[in-house]
Amino acid sequence: MEKNWAFWLVYPLFLTILWPFSVIFVSFFTGQFRFFKGYLARVGAKLMGGKKVHVAIFASGAGSNARKIIEYFEKNDRIKVSLIVCNVPGAGVLDIAKEKGIPTLLINKTEFASTGYVTSLRNAEIHFIVLAGFLWKVPAVLVKAFAPGVENSKGIINIHPALLPKYGGKGMYGAHVHEAVIAAGEKQSGITIHWVNEHYDEGAIIFQAKCTVETSDTPITLAHKIHALEHAHFAPTIEGLLK
Ligand code: GAR
Repeated sequence: MEKNWAFWLVYPLFLTILWPFSVIFVSFFTGQFRFFKGYLARVGAKLMGGKKVHVAIFASGAGSNARKIIEYFEKNDRIKVSLIVCNVPGAGVLDIAKEKGIPTLLINKTEFASTGYVTSLRNAEIHFIVLAGFLWKVPAVLVKAFAPGVENSKGIINIHPALLPKYGGKGMYGAHVHEAVIAAGEKQSGITIHWVNEHYDEGAIIFQAKCTVETSDTPITLAHKIHALEHAHFAPTIEGLLK
């Protein structure tokens, strides 16, 4: 039977629409669902001209910074917090992820040190990693895999509750930092947002903001001031980096 011009117009269109469904269908039976889902998402993003940046937040504790970042980007159609990575079962940040319907990845120290969970992060199509109160050292394998430009990665950043290069390094986290700042009689403290390299708190500084330290301040009152600075500046700084 001879096909007219309408057939040749509609038939390819029909195949194009049907094709993603058949790929997903076949992938179920070949155990390749995750792979093809990612593949289709990438093709779809290319075709639609979409360039969504998927962010993973790594956190070990309460997650107040994670919450601020998630809420800041909730209505952003280009930047999305797609994964919460946590190393502490029962940490508050996991409740926040649940409340917000964001997938989580609970990680184990040995595997983190050896693989950096690079495969899981690639499968989740993460482009950018934000450490928000994450207390393990980031292994070189992860730093390298997420260096800006490597497979669409945009880098890894960290927030530190002091004015680096002072009061950084191993063991310098949370209240320990504020205790050290007060014990040294500092008149100022603040926050530092910096790129992550293989060494604790040593990557290039992106942003700093300061607050005063009064003689009446305790580690608790100073922590409040620092959290206020973090909540005000972390998400906008991320937005600026991902422009
Ligand atoms: C934040 O103050 C962050 O700067 C600090 O942990 C806190 C986490 O608070 N990070 C470090 O000390 C890293 N060295 P949060 O869980 O409420 O976001």
